[in-house]
Amino acid sequence: MRKIGLLTSGGDAPGMNATINGIVEEARKYEIEVRGYLEGFDGLIDNQFLKLTPRKVKPHVSSGGTFIGSARSQRFLQADIQRQVVQRLYEENIYGLIIIGGDGSFRGALKLSELGLLTIGIPATIDNDVKETEICLGFNTAIRNVVETVDIIMQSAASHRHLYAIEVMGRKSGDIARRSGRALDAEGIIAEIGDFDVKEVEQAIKNSQAIGKRYQLFVIAEGAMSAEAFQKIMEEETNFSFHALRLGHIQRGGNPVAEDRILGMDFGALAVKELLQGVTGKALAVKDNKIFTYSLKKDE
Ligand code: F6P
Repeated sequence: MRKIGLLTSGGDAPGMNATINGIVEEARKYEIEVRGYLEGFDGLIDNQFLKLTPRKVKPHVSSGGTFIGSARSQRFLQADIQRQVVQRLYEENIYGLIIIGGDGSFRGALKLSELGLLTIGIPATIDNDVKETEICLGFNTAIRNVVETVDIIMQSAASHRHLYAIEVMGRKSGDIARRSGRALDAEGIIAEIGDFDVKEVEQAIKNSQAIGKRYQLFVIAEGAMSAEAFQKIMEEETNFSFHALRLGHIQRGGNPVAEDRILGMDFGALAVKELLQGVTGKALAVKDNKIFTYSLKKDE
């Protein structure tokens, strides 16, 4: 029986389990065994894996997170460990590997591919910061999480005419702030370093209060500034006082929305097909609602 491997790496993203389901379903059509390496690249190094069957996978399809675990492996950055892994997978007849994660994980995928292992990446990160794709797995669910959570908080805020600075995730990308801020009809969105201007924020508050809105909301990407820093500056330089809140991991969990489940299953099925064609050193991406592959080598 042919064998392929998969792993989930980096921050978990809702839809990872649905992706694993897509991979296992597609692989079954060709009678391929799927090994799910545990805890990201660490499981690959330590040869810790689960043989993934529909029976094991199906109960997790509707859940966020990743049931095989994820990690940001430091050990895998070592070249000798990468070589040992490829050698062992070769000896064990593993035909190829599917890596579900973000850019950092794809750098690992590219290394393995350069060492001769067939590898393909699936973009999964709530930050939505894999630039070749319009959408990463998990992003839509994260937006749902932010919007629904902040809606709840704003009901209380409206009761007291409170002002809120809410910090959302996105170390290198302001996408969560931009999209959720828009959906929440925020008074201001600080998505990038440099977006913050005390006078503009002050004016936005005044405009919003002038039309009778009972709360004011500023959504801030963690990579731009912290909610606390925003609060401190605003309270020092104006007469407004703020509640500052870091939303944290409530953004990253939760059952995936339909878009993330469907995209995950489509990505998973296509990744298997591509691997079987001998495609390597590539990742999947979406443009205009169509999935395509691109090379992980920056100069190709
Ligand atoms: O997965 C991406 C992300 O959620 C970023 O938005 C955030 O900065 C980071 O991961 C948080 O990582 P950790 O869960 O390890 O604290």
